[in-house]
Amino acid sequence: MAIPQHTIDQILDRTDIVDLIGQRVKLKKTGRTYSGCCPFHQEKSPSFHVYRDKQYFHCFGCQANGNAIRFLMDIDGRNFVDVMKDLSSRTGIELPKDNHDSNKLKYKREAAKPKAAVPASQNQPQNPLQAQSNPAEAPASAAHFDPFAEFQATQQEDYGDPFAAFDQVPFEEVTQDGNLFDLLENIAQFYERQLPQSQTAQQYFKQRGLSAETLAYWRLGYAPEDWQHLEKAFPQDIEGLKLLGLIRTSDSGRDFDLLRDRVIFPIRDPKGRVVGFGGRALNDEIKPKYINSPDSEVFHKNQLLYGLYEGRKQKAQDWLMVEGYMDVIALQQYGIAGAVATLGTASNTEHLNILFKQNNRITIAFDGDAAGQKAARRTLEIALPLLNDGRELKFFVLPNDHDPDSLIRREGIENFHRLLQQAPLLSDFVFAHLTQNHDVTKPEGKSQVMGELRQLTELLPKQGSYRYLLQQFFREKLGFSRKWQPQVNNDASLSFSTKIDAEEYVIAILIKHPYLYIHFEPLRALIPQDQLLFKILNIFNTIFDDLPDDTELSQYYVLGACAPYHHDLQHILLQANVSDYTSSPEQADKLAEDFSIKLQYQCLQQKIKSKKFSNIAEMRNLKQRIYEIDRKRTMTLLED
Ligand code: UTP
Ligand code: MN
Repeated sequence: MAIPQHTIDQILDRTDIVDLIGQRVKLKKTGRTYSGCCPFHQEKSPSFHVYRDKQYFHCFGCQANGNAIRFLMDIDGRNFVDVMKDLSSRTGIELPKDNHDSNKLKYKREAAKPKAAVPASQNQPQNPLQAQSNPAEAPASAAHFDPFAEFQATQQEDYGDPFAAFDQVPFEEVTQDGNLFDLLENIAQFYERQLPQSQTAQQYFKQRGLSAETLAYWRLGYAPEDWQHLEKAFPQDIEGLKLLGLIRTSDSGRDFDLLRDRVIFPIRDPKGRVVGFGGRALNDEIKPKYINSPDSEVFHKNQLLYGLYEGRKQKAQDWLMVEGYMDVIALQQYGIAGAVATLGTASNTEHLNILFKQNNRITIAFDGDAAGQKAARRTLEIALPLLNDGRELKFFVLPNDHDPDSLIRREGIENFHRLLQQAPLLSDFVFAHLTQNHDVTKPEGKSQVMGELRQLTELLPKQGSYRYLLQQFFREKLGFSRKWQPQVNNDASLSFSTKIDAEEYVIAILIKHPYLYIHFEPLRALIPQDQLLFKILNIFNTIFDDLPDDTELSQYYVLGACAPYHHDLQHILLQANVSDYTSSPEQADKLAEDFSIKLQYQCLQQKIKSKKFSNIAEMRNLKQRIYEIDRKRTMTLLED
């Protein structure tokens, strides 16, 4: 089975390599990547890295690398087709049936009529069968009023007829297969060439402020008024045009073009291939304002974003979801790359996932009116389940009666940028959204808001800490926040159960009182890397700055972050009794510091004893550190 590249790409696009590999390899997040022990060679410390944004894995130990397909092929020793079938059922993207694959892109081209058969009356443009040659092969510079004249002229003057060689060949033998991508490209070129021919279309774009450069960059075009211009321009490709939905058939059986007397926005897939068209009426009285190509074999609206290809080409960092083609184009013309729009459909999970693959941080623009609020709420509900692993969503609510196109024209790029930058984070947006209909000065209003919040946080991913953070944030804003309540207990000794060792006890302390990490941080450099404590300290290193102030919430946060070690942690927490060991935050601080210093001392001693140093200088260094710690300990004791 030959699987077309675009299907492979689609499947890879829809596969999350971190999730996929995470099912086989214990991965942990290290900065922007995930790492674990390589499944392709024996190792103790993790040199296997998975990059979500690049959808790629790489082992620095054995150099194994590749995409999701490679991973499955190598780890299970399966062949390509087998793996693709598996991924196809995981992603829901169907593979072409055997022998049907590239056939889906194929259609039967009608034969070019031998020249002798061309009727003399070919100047009447009513008969779709009359235009002869493929316009894609015609010179683009022709400036005739009649868009078809150029081709007819070619015929009449009898030079450059691309089919001349076939004059004597029987009809059947010149039929050939067409390819939908090729046809779409030819149509895009055809529409582009019509633009200079239409004063009104040019005028339209001019009045909307688009420069010649912008027109060329977005390959904007014009579909003439003629009811059958495509049939005439592509007489051999009627079947292909119908597969693309660009020719419709009336009840009376007459074919006509879907897009007529409209300016044309060609829509490209992530690879830059034209896959469909949007057409806008030249004035606002004509309804519908926009007509888009229907879905076809190559055009799937819910998996495409207008502007994605262009944004990627411009190496966009910040991605902004807007509503319309004209918004995307205007922003690009003003210098804002990375704006994308859906193709006349509401945005769905897939659209957001595509954007989150570009960057963990995305912004969605909404109108300031009631409809915009409703759309924002809907998008919120779609987006919440996707918010994990540091993904961030911002809401750019536009001033009333503006869309990004009109706003950037009024404000200019700098002001627009400033407004965009001020777009609230999800938490602020949700707070504003949920509190607008309640009186939050009253307890009833507050609890209603918390109730509605709970409904929303239910949608957040289960493992993440965001739900706790969001609730904490709301409690604080509504004035519910609980402050640290020291437990009264005068027995402040740091004794730990004999069933666990000192390292495990540190872990228990950290889980119970995450903010004490600050004292244990120096241990990171000393604890052997295969110890659980080392891994836990590393996690703390990543999350510490983000810990919520509330003790209870920070415990949840830590537990969420340490999820891969839950099993071990459970055991430790059962054995260690750290709940009542301090009477005040200050005392807890001091005891933790003391305990940490003791452990650092032990680790250093251990290193010296086991001769784990490579040279004399390192040994001297270790001894120096022991001396320093000793001094610190003495001072600590003196202070007591
Ligand atoms: P809007 O109607 O909000 O208009 O359509 P707009 O983008 O500001 O358009 P201009 O500026 O008047 O040209 C937003 C998007 O919704 C889809 C199109 O994709 C459009 O870009 N749409 C709109 C349709 O598909 N059909 C319509 O009739 C209208
Ligand atoms: Mn607009």
